[in-house]
Amino acid sequence: MFAQRLAQVSASATLKAAAAAEALRRAGHKVVDFTAGEPDFPTPEHVKAAGKAAIDADFTRYTAAAGIPELRDAIATRYKGQYGVDITTAEVLLTAGGKQALFNAALALFDQGDEVITHAPYWPTIPEQVKLVGGKPVIVQTRADEGFAVHPEAIIAAITPKTKAIIINSPCNPTGGLVDEATLTPIVDAAAKRGIWIIVDLCYEQLIYDPVPHNLVKVLFDRHRDRTVIAGSASKSYAMTGWRCGWTIAPKELTAAFNVIQGQTTSNITSITQKAALAAVSGSQDAVTMMLNEYRKRRDNIHAWLTAHPAIKCVKPKGAFYLFPDISGLLGAEGMKSSADFAQALLEKEHVAVTAGEGFDAPGYLRISYAASMEDLREGATRILRFAESLQPARAGASR
Ligand SMILES: Cc1ncc(COP(=O)(O)O)c(C=O)c1O
Repeated sequence: MFAQRLAQVSASATLKAAAAAEALRRAGHKVVDFTAGEPDFPTPEHVKAAGKAAIDADFTRYTAAAGIPELRDAIATRYKGQYGVDITTAEVLLTAGGKQALFNAALALFDQGDEVITHAPYWPTIPEQVKLVGGKPVIVQTRADEGFAVHPEAIIAAITPKTKAIIINSPCNPTGGLVDEATLTPIVDAAAKRGIWIIVDLCYEQLIYDPVPHNLVKVLFDRHRDRTVIAGSASKSYAMTGWRCGWTIAPKELTAAFNVIQGQTTSNITSITQKAALAAVSGSQDAVTMMLNEYRKRRDNIHAWLTAHPAIKCVKPKGAFYLFPDISGLLGAEGMKSSADFAQALLEKEHVAVTAGEGFDAPGYLRISYAASMEDLREGATRILRFAESLQPARAGASR
């Protein structure tokens, strides 16, 4: 009944987990929800004020499909300041979040049967969008005991004559891992030799906790600029998920193609959002620093609390706001075979909502968003540890 392309694509696991938590909440339970893929902070005041001012000034009509030039230029200026690269207005296009940025790239670049390499554990939207346009995701696994490091040789080994693009996500959702400059360089060189596109999802670029060399934009621009797409977003950096603002930075011919796609589908992103995002990108960055510092404290605490349990192993994330513990040591008890079973039982027994690793191509893991108050993190950690403890006697019994 529906188009064939939908047969390949799965719904978002994160949204499903959030919906299950919401159902319990509506039934009157105090749920601790760690499924959120978004900041718990409000949008900064000066950003909200710019949005309100846009409404009052009747800035409520269509804009150019690619967005207002002031914001495109402000993004170029921010990248110049942050990465030392020169970008023209014609290379920037505004999208309804990083999601549309990546989807524009998929629509403009991938034909039926094209292979697109990415690394796992991944944010599910990345491979699902590839499938939606008829491409074939080629997945290169990374390992927790190596800090989820992406090995350039593994990516390069996955290249075939059908490879059209390589998608890198750094900081990575769900692992919090980073791809540093030294890792990216050989990948870029191999791609440049073969004319393969590199798409970098930098949606969490302002959320990096440790001083890792992460000027991926410069590496790409120096070596492979004519086949590079950067997907950026105001969502996580500026606590603006609901405003829907992202962008692509890509060669001007490809940006023109994005403009055609967007012009025939969604047109411009909300005019009001554009004014708010302009204030976010070009105004004070104090709120960004405040949020980063707060996430760092939360990361340190939740990581320490959970890893106090001997069966919970967890790499300390370097970026984004997710903890990605390996809980496979707790499986086996009470018919709980998978992390999906674990997440379900944790929700039912302790009313803690987490996202199971299966959705990220990582069975045995859980994704815990620490974009939550310290109070909720403490309470949630207590409940998770209590749940883990409750499994131990059953496990001991099971093994006898
Ligand atoms: C890795 C990654 N990229 C991109 C996005 C897109 O976010 P948005 O469309 O709100 O900019 C997300 C959101 O969760 C994400 O986790």
